[in-house]
Amino acid sequence: MSGSGSYLNPQNELNYSLDDIVDSLATIIEPDSKKDILLLGLVRQLVVTESKITLTIFLKKPGTSFAEDIPGFVENAIREVAGSDVVLEIDVDNAMISLGMDLKIDGQQVKPGPDTGILNTIAVASGKGGVGKSTVAVNLAIALASEGYDVGLVDTDIYGPSIPTMFGIEMARPQVNDERRIIPLEKYGVKLLSMGFLVDPKTAVVWRGPMVSGAVRQFLSETEWGDLDFLILDLPPGTGDIQLTIVQTIALSGAIIISTPQKVAVADARKGVAMFEQVNVPVLGIVENMAFFTPPELPEKKYYLFGEGGARRLAEEKGLVLLAEVPLDPKLRQSCDDGIPLAALPGGSTVFTELAKTVARQTWIRNATRSETEKVEIVRG
Ligand SMILES: Nc1ncnc2c1ncn2[C@@H]1O[C@H](COP(=O)(O)OP(=O)(O)OP(=O)(O)O)[C@@H](O)[C@H]1O
Ligand SMILES: [Mg+2]
Repeated sequence: MSGSGSYLNPQNELNYSLDDIVDSLATIIEPDSKKDILLLGLVRQLVVTESKITLTIFLKKPGTSFAEDIPGFVENAIREVAGSDVVLEIDVDNAMISLGMDLKIDGQQVKPGPDTGILNTIAVASGKGGVGKSTVAVNLAIALASEGYDVGLVDTDIYGPSIPTMFGIEMARPQVNDERRIIPLEKYGVKLLSMGFLVDPKTAVVWRGPMVSGAVRQFLSETEWGDLDFLILDLPPGTGDIQLTIVQTIALSGAIIISTPQKVAVADARKGVAMFEQVNVPVLGIVENMAFFTPPELPEKKYYLFGEGGARRLAEEKGLVLLAEVPLDPKLRQSCDDGIPLAALPGGSTVFTELAKTVARQTWIRNATRSETEKVEIVRG
């Protein structure tokens, strides 16, 4: 069904934005999974211009009544916001496609089976250490789960895993089922695994790229994740061999870069952005952590202890979204040290709830606008 309407907009005015279109499409829910069609990656190659909107619908399960209804639903949803004059071209691709992540095993790009069920795989990275990657990854994962998404979290830091502490489960060990597959732990609605469970910290120092890559592969392909909307990977600090190996082992849907406002952190964050550009992984955006401090007794005040807006400027320079400005907050540190992150406390955390919504939206946009032919290139040095 190509060119399902051929109308000219007489004013030739853009009355709608990409965001409006994305929002309208996100209201279409697939009944089996109860997920919206953008999260499921059923909409691709979305191009929104002043007078024309084109997109391709990839049907994961052709032949179902929902599959037949999608083009009509999509047309209605778009026309509701863009009006009846806009030219709308909807292509339907019936090819059976793999919506999950691709794993690279023994030099081959491995397409996961239809039961893999991991829709979006997102790395949380930085150039500099100690800027709050794990803090953001943990609270983001919990906030996404609170929003109703199915979420997994992997701590890939073999040298200094911190997620077990932040979840208060240092002593827990994952079980292995009869098929010798790892069953992730679960807390605060998040399924989680840490490389720290597999690696003895005393031997971690001698680990090299291939060993790390093997362990990451095992983590992802030999674990009973079930259906996940988001698998979040907390990366170790830096942009060296280990980080590159991890981001090359998994076909990531996107990356989130964490930076503090400081010049040195921003310079390292820039290297992080470059690393993902090198391996063709889209950067979903930047989080500025420790952006400012607001004393509880002076709620109107913002003190910029580490400088102001460094990460914002990097986002502007790179044309990236500033996903959140997370304040310096002693309660955030304390809560992570106590094993009950802020986002897991009753009422949650506004800043991380907003971050979760923004990350979900950027994932929708990335899924909807990605081209059919886009592949994650695996380049081995
Ligand atoms: N916004 C914040 N306010 C207060 N403390 C914070 C904030 N973000 C992080 N911290 C604290 O800073 C320290 C470092 O944070 P975290 O471990 O998340 O950083 P990281 O980037 O994951 O570090 P590494 O590079 O070692 O993996 C922790 O003690 C954490 O509690
Ligand atoms: Mg960390």
